[in-house]
This record gives sequence, C-alpha cells and structure tokens, in this order.
Amino acid sequence: MIEIDQAKAVIEANSLCVNIKNNPILKGLNFQVKAGEIYALLGGNGAGKSTTLKTLLGFNAPSSGSVKVDGKEVVKALNLVREKTAYLPESATLYTHLTARENVKYFLSLADIKKSDAEVNQAFDRVALQEKARDRHMQTYSKGMRQKTAIALALLREAPIFLLDEPTSGLDPVAIDEFNQLVRELASGGATILMVTHDVYGACQVADRIGLLRDGELVGEFSAPQNGQIETEQVHAAFAQRGAA
Ligand SMILES: Nc1ncnc2c1ncn2[C@@H]1O[C@H](COP(=O)(O)OP(=O)(O)OP(=O)(O)O)[C@@H](O)[C@H]1O
Ligand SMILES: [Mg+2]
Repeated sequence: MIEIDQAKAVIEANSLCVNIKNNPILKGLNFQVKAGEIYALLGGNGAGKSTTLKTLLGFNAPSSGSVKVDGKEVVKALNLVREKTAYLPESATLYTHLTARENVKYFLSLADIKKSDAEVNQAFDRVALQEKARDRHMQTYSKGMRQKTAIALALLREAPIFLLDEPTSGLDPVAIDEFNQLVRELASGGATILMVTHDVYGACQVADRIGLLRDGELVGEFSAPQNGQIETEQVHAAFAQRGAA
C-alpha cells in the first residue's frame, strides 16, 4: 500500500482557475479532502465537476492557482498522481469484449502489478461481483457490475485516492446502497474519496462534506454532523438557490 500521511489534505485545490479554449470554466476553487474523507462536489450540468476531476488527473492545466495530490502539484508529478489515483469516469472505459477477470489482469499487467488469482477473486468478493459473472464478457454487464469491476481493479492497484464522476447515476437503489457501503468501507480504510454528482439526495447519503459548485465557483460547503448525514433539504435549497448558499 502506498503510504499517505493522514493529517494532511490529500486532495487540494488552491484558488484553482482553469480556462478551456480561453473560456473561464473553473473560477478560483478552494477545497481540501483528507484521508478517510468522502467529499462530494455537487453541481448542475456544466458547473465544472468533470473538469475539476480531469484537472486533478493532469488532463487540464490550471491557468492560475494549483491542484495538489498528496502535497505534490499535479502538473509536476503526473505519474505519481496517476499511480495513486483510481478514476472512474462518467462512462466506464474497460474493454467489453473481455471478461472482468481479463480486464483486471490486462490493466494490472500494464501497470506492471502482479496479483494471484486468489487476490483477484478476493477483490471481486470485496466489491460483491457475482462469481458466475467474473468470466463473462463485459458487454453483458449492467452499469453496476462494470463499476464493481473498476473498483476491484482500483483495490488491486492499491490506489488510495478515488475520483468518481457521477458514480451512482444509472444505478438502481439496491446497487446504490451497495456502492455507498463500499465507498464508506474504502474511506474507513483510509482512502480519500472525491465524487462529483448532481444528485443532492445521493450526495447527502454518503458524503462527509459537500461542496456546492455553481458555474465554476464553490458557493457553499456542508459538513455531516458526528455520526449523521448532511440534511438534504438544506442542500437542496442552496442548490436550487432558494436559501443562502
Ligand atoms: N473540451 C472542452 N471543450 C470546450 N468546452 C468544454 C470542454 N470541457 C468542458 N467544457 C465546458 O466546461 C463547462 C463545464 O463542463 P464539465 O464537463 O466540467 O461540467 P459538469 O459539471 O461535469 O457537467 P455534467 O453534469 O453535465 O457532467 C461546460 O460549459 C462545458 O461546455
Ligand atoms: Mg460531468
């Protein structure tokens, strides 16, 4: 396991501005996510959620300000950052003509990571991917099963940082519960989770903190009470601009 200092912010955006084709998309974002924390960046379509994740992976460079992962400026430590990070994009990027097991083995081999069959099965067990599905081509998979496979791969890569783009959109309520459970387990184990979503209810269900993103600006932050959840009504009102954000 790659070691991460628990006390420090693992993900950090400092006055982050990103321009795309000369248009300002992110306009001075400041937020931090610590190890063991689940942070949801909540915002409407086009607010800049996916852009934030892509910037954290170094696919966009800040036009000013910075993004840091584990204390390192992303643009200066691309390989290190990508090695530590598991990114689940809006649509899964595994090969549908391969089985889940073949996908996992292929991507591990690309990263030069060796895992035994038993370890691969353990990861599939942990994400509750049905045994009979593991050797089936992924084109027959539901979205929930594809996500489980992607997370199993992340577990095998021992990536301690998860960037999740709309992870629960298109999942049924049971699959959402399973997913939330898994994300909580990862966080309890010390992982750092940044998810982006436009689903207020879903964010409140799982996040320790929510940052409300509107038109490239962070306009509010909400924290869960000890052993409780963030109140949906309060966040919904801010999202819909009915209350103070
Ligand atoms: N490659 C690009 N070229 C031009 N504009 C872009 C590009 N990527 C993002 N944008 C613009 O940046 C803004 C934010 O896009 P982004 O994809 O980050 O939004 P989002 O919050 O993820 O939205 P959604 O909920 O629809 O996924 C949008 O106005 C979008 O049109
Ligand atoms: Mg998006």
